[in-house]
Amino acid sequence: MSKNMVADHAIRPVENDTIFTISAKASEAVEKYGPDKVINSSMGVLLEDNGDFVAFKSVYDYLESLEAPKIAAYASIEGDKDFLKAVKKACFKDHMPNAYIEAVATPGGSGAIHHSVFNYTNIGDTVITSSLYWDPYNTICLESGRKLDTYNMFNENGGLDIDAFKEKFNYYLTKQKRLLTIFNTPAHNPTGYSVSDEEWDEILVVLKEAAKDKDNKIIVLVDIAYIDFCDEKFNRRKFMEKFAGLDENILILIAFSASKGYTMYGLRNGALLCVTSKEEIAKEFFYTNLHSNRGTWSNGTKGAMRVLTDIINDENLGNNFIKERDHYVKMLRRRADVFLQKSEEVGLKLYPYKDGFFVCIPCKDPAKAADLLMEENVFVIPLQTGLRFALCAVGEEKCALAPKIIKEVLSKWDE
Ligand SMILES: Cc1ncc(COP(=O)(O)O)c(C=O)c1O
Repeated sequence: MSKNMVADHAIRPVENDTIFTISAKASEAVEKYGPDKVINSSMGVLLEDNGDFVAFKSVYDYLESLEAPKIAAYASIEGDKDFLKAVKKACFKDHMPNAYIEAVATPGGSGAIHHSVFNYTNIGDTVITSSLYWDPYNTICLESGRKLDTYNMFNENGGLDIDAFKEKFNYYLTKQKRLLTIFNTPAHNPTGYSVSDEEWDEILVVLKEAAKDKDNKIIVLVDIAYIDFCDEKFNRRKFMEKFAGLDENILILIAFSASKGYTMYGLRNGALLCVTSKEEIAKEFFYTNLHSNRGTWSNGTKGAMRVLTDIINDENLGNNFIKERDHYVKMLRRRADVFLQKSEEVGLKLYPYKDGFFVCIPCKDPAKAADLLMEENVFVIPLQTGLRFALCAVGEEKCALAPKIIKEVLSKWDE
């Protein structure tokens, strides 16, 4: 008989989350040696070059101006009506596919991922994603009695390994007849990779071929948590138009998060959206996820929904917000540019970076490398096959210094 008080499915390792543990160690080092001596690239939150937390003034001034009932009242279970309209605009901007689209509010992107796993796979099913991935995908699958498997992420040309994806996809679809695939793009966590429009075409060829068997249920979740930190000039939403006119047994889900794009991390605001060519499937999506909201966290954060809605709909508020966010998109780009340039100078290899909060350094023993780097007061996150460096949390000057330190540590034993 089990000695645990928790039920069998709820037995978990008695340890803290890696990111929060490393971040606590970085804070201790700051106390001991001073902030100038420490490079803390552990947390995926945006900080100023001087280390101050970035909370958009345009968001928080407006939140503070709201009358209490606009924050304190319950939101509708599925999300307030005008929020659901606004979030569609915020998600697709000028690239709304010509299809049936519905949305349900969730607490951040995490809630959207939870509902996708829970409502679109059967208990015991396997969900697939790329070999480098955000670890909570695994936690969310385990939480719901599902499993996660991966395919090799990059081919030798530094592009998405479509062949590896196709093999895993066909394997599980044949076995399960229903498969949820998660793509975290653009600005993938942890590599910063963005799937190109041409690669999306190739993915869609694989999906459409599989959709010829009408017993197959093909569900693709696009996790766009970092999309709003892609520079507009790269047009990173264009792929969304490709989701028009798909077979009825292909369902596209999109996990929208206001955590990064609106600096609402702690306000827990987001949505799950669907794109389908069949009206009944959109309706089914709406009611299933509405009931799931009721059965999990009930309703979302009303004040956060109000702020996002008004930013999207009010020209003045919206313009101020866009101007402010743009300043930080550029700040992040400068950090990425200098990190990439210095890495090239010292010969530090990186996984292909395109946009966003993180870069990732391939490495054979990430846990050991992260430990050794801590001795140099550089705090990175060890992941499946690499070290994640959070550009979002490190000022430009330190982004220029870090590649040399990392290269020196890795050269001693990892190459
Ligand atoms: C890849 C990825 N997806 C989704 C999320 C969801 O975040 P939230 O639940 O705060 O919106 C995060 C946050 O770190 C993330 O890194």
